[in-house]
Amino acid sequence: MTTPVGRGAFIVLEGCDRAGKSTQCRLLVEKLKDSNIPAELVVFPDRSTPIGQVISEYLKKEVQLPDQAIHLLFTANRWERAEEIKSKLEKGCTLIVDRYSYSGVAYSSAKEKKTSSFQWYKNPEEGLPKPDAVFYLNLEPEIIAERKGFGGERYESAQFQKDVAECFKKLNDGSWKIVDADKLIEDLTTELYSYVTEIVRLSKDKPLGVMW
Ligand code: TMP
Ligand code: MG
Repeated sequence: MTTPVGRGAFIVLEGCDRAGKSTQCRLLVEKLKDSNIPAELVVFPDRSTPIGQVISEYLKKEVQLPDQAIHLLFTANRWERAEEIKSKLEKGCTLIVDRYSYSGVAYSSAKEKKTSSFQWYKNPEEGLPKPDAVFYLNLEPEIIAERKGFGGERYESAQFQKDVAECFKKLNDGSWKIVDADKLIEDLTTELYSYVTEIVRLSKDKPLGVMW
């Protein structure tokens, strides 16, 4: 590894379930490392922590929780990793992050469109480190529903994913890079990688932002 100059970039991939985020995140980290750019993968929810284990049980439908409670657990799961994220970025490590606060708000608000506001869901995210870039992997809900493995966990229904996609759209402040995810894995990686290297270059000297 070469000695990093400046801080690492904080790059988030977002999208509905089965859009290909996890595969792309893994491949992007591999490609960065192959180019001697220090990089690590971060995945939310992080199911390995005590809070993450409750989230995992909730997603597998083994426990029930009020919508507000699970929302706050997803957020707490990000707070659990916040200091580590900041410290890694400061040390020059680029982080490729599989879902972040945007999933938190989009999935929660897709459930309760009428009673709770975006703002209620955003509030507990306030103060978390802010990504330098958000890539949204866009895929039609019909294609998502056909993908292998869809349907196993809570939230994995075609109608719900449509509602989530709508909420993601409302959340985009115009700064997200929307990427068409309906293509070959390697083509998508090549496309994302060229954006990622640019963000790495641009983030080196910029102070890390704060949500929201
Ligand atoms: P995963 O499929 O990426 O492992 O994520 C598990 C599910 O949790 C997925 O349906 C999206 C949902 N989710 C939330 O509802 N809120 C959050 O804050 C995050 C990170 C994920
Ligand atoms: Mg999933």
